[in-house]
Amino acid sequence: MSLRILHFSDVHLPFPPGAFRTPGILHPKRLVALVNFYLRRGSKYAEAVQKLNGLNEFLRREPVDYVLFTGDSLNFGLEREFVAAAPRIAETLALARRGSLAVPGNHDLYAGNSPACHRRHFAALLHSDLPEAAAPTGYPLVRWLGDDAVAIAFNTSRPNFNFWNSSGRVPALELDALGRLLDAPEIAARRRVFLMTHYPFDENGYFHGLRNSRALIKLLRGRENLVLLHGHNHRAYTHFVAGTTTPLYCAGSLSKAGAESFWLFDLFGDALNPRRGAWKNARFVLLD
Ligand SMILES: [Fe+2]
Ligand SMILES: [Fe+2]
Repeated sequence: MSLRILHFSDVHLPFPPGAFRTPGILHPKRLVALVNFYLRRGSKYAEAVQKLNGLNEFLRREPVDYVLFTGDSLNFGLEREFVAAAPRIAETLALARRGSLAVPGNHDLYAGNSPACHRRHFAALLHSDLPEAAAPTGYPLVRWLGDDAVAIAFNTSRPNFNFWNSSGRVPALELDALGRLLDAPEIAARRRVFLMTHYPFDENGYFHGLRNSRALIKLLRGRENLVLLHGHNHRAYTHFVAGTTTPLYCAGSLSKAGAESFWLFDLFGDALNPRRGAWKNARFVLLD
């Protein structure tokens, strides 16, 4: 059996005209973020739509079986951003031959009513092959990847009121549900379990990292079939989780100018062959 899986993250699509004509923009976190966006951040992601279209072109040129997306479609979690972004992300995910799975980022669940907007506009992308395994939070989501592998998405993003706080957390109920899933015979027996979430699987600073990463890593230790996928950090990298043989891949940002990236995995039996995608001469290509 062979499978081809593509993992991308952090598209940060530009906000559409009129996105700010809403009282929601007066949220203190959004006001600070807006200034930051205009002063520093915005220009780096100005061509995010072109990069997403570039990924679509790559997927038509190099078809994959499954596409996995680890969040941050937007910037401020405003309703009009969702209206514009949801069909674009759905179009990309639909290019996978057999299926896809997505999980939100902190910029999707940014503030106020962002989580409700996300549920409404991304509902079609949030279905699970094992819905009875989800906690009341709606996660983890499960996608069977053929007969030998599976993807499990759990949510680490949440709205934070203060602008200096962009930390994440795995809800306790979700952590328990994840443990039960990983122990389930039909999951434990799979050759590969791709575990995906937005936040890195480490603390990475109190106000930027995953607050309960130690409990998460404790849960994952001793399981030989895991592959960890995440985004949030806007540069791609890979390493083994400290003291384990578990590989971890950060997809970086699909759209950050000069650092565009994704991961492509070929799974042949037990062998996992990762290659990184990069933007060269106005198209995505695979690096050797
Ligand atoms: Fe991001
Ligand atoms: Fe993020």
